Amino acid sequence: MRIQPSNSNSETMVSQETNSPKEMSGKVVLITGASSGIGLATACELARRGAHVILLCRDKTRGEAALAKVNEAGGNAEAELLLVDLASFASIRAGAKQFLATHSKLDVLINNAGLPLKDRRVTVDGYEEVFAVNHLSHFLLTHLLLPVLKASAPARIINVSSLAHAMGGKMHWDDLMLEKSYKRWPAYSQSKLANILFTIELAKRLKGEGITVNTLHPGLVDTRFTRGHHPIFQKLFRMVAISAEQGAQTSVYLATSKDVENVTGLYFVKMKPHKTSARARNEADAARLWKMSEKLTGIASESVAKEAQKEAGMESEKALLKAA
Ligand SMILES: NC(=O)c1ccc[n+]([C@@H]2O[C@H](COP(=O)([O-])OP(=O)(O)OC[C@H]3O[C@@H](n4cnc5c(N)ncnc54)[C@H](OP(=O)(O)O)[C@@H]3O)[C@@H](O)[C@H]2O)c1
Repeated sequence: MRIQPSNSNSETMVSQETNSPKEMSGKVVLITGASSGIGLATACELARRGAHVILLCRDKTRGEAALAKVNEAGGNAEAELLLVDLASFASIRAGAKQFLATHSKLDVLINNAGLPLKDRRVTVDGYEEVFAVNHLSHFLLTHLLLPVLKASAPARIINVSSLAHAMGGKMHWDDLMLEKSYKRWPAYSQSKLANILFTIELAKRLKGEGITVNTLHPGLVDTRFTRGHHPIFQKLFRMVAISAEQGAQTSVYLATSKDVENVTGLYFVKMKPHKTSARARNEADAARLWKMSEKLTGIASESVAKEAQKEAGMESEKALLKAA
């Protein structure tokens, strides 16, 4: 594929190319929400192209079933299962630790897991579950894996968002956890907007580090995603939805194509850069969400502690030099 500047606006256009089947040989890819739907289809395709795939799943039985499918797709590719519940920061930290203890390389991180919830639920950390799983978990996981991504540069981070961000999606700054009023759509569209704001801020912060960060809408995809909706809605949705394999195409494209190896901070639909809503282009909001996410996930206090440690180290070094 080739990306060329478009004449009409600042977006870019992508032309098709054929990928060689084992183009991902030697690449290590971690995918969240790989037990079903788009995540599973993405994992299968990347394994088929030769990648060593790590499936991050919360449920052992579903995870093992997915692992068997991915290994079959990849011709016994020896994919791995990493059991993590993204609704728990402790589980994410334990999973990242386990990954880092056994891998020194991560070429592609695909933050794909996500869910809508009809009724408000709260995670063990006390946060509204849709915001926590769809955004905060990936914010934390990405931070914990950044050192290995940096060491593996050139590397790629892909955040699966949704067109939902542009369908009334807004940040409820005064009630981020939707305690005052909870409805399925505002909760979901806020979390998908957060995916894009996270992408643009992270891309900005990682400029020059050899890591690209992009986001996407996979299309309307026939997955377990509509579970819990009215049966008539599910039936209508299926009539217009594409398959999980088709829905995985843009994630696979962003993970593999040479044409996007230096492209960062963009939102893709059908493998092409696409305009986001005005709210998703608000850089002040992206910075604000970053700061809040740092606080909510505990990353901020760790950075402060690290700085303090560094300063204390420098002070004791100075004292030693003085005494010498
Ligand atoms: N389907 C669509 O039309 C559509 C449209 C736009 C965007 N998307 C986005 O596409 C992504 C994938 O969704 P999908 O359509 O493939 O739906 P899906 O089939 O329901 O897959 C969602 C995945 O997320 C996982 N997940 C949910 N909560 C988790 C948790 N606490 N810890 C770990 N994993 C968790 C699920 O695991 P379990 O198997 O354990 O439940 C599952 O593997 C989501 O981010 C969604 O927002 C989908």
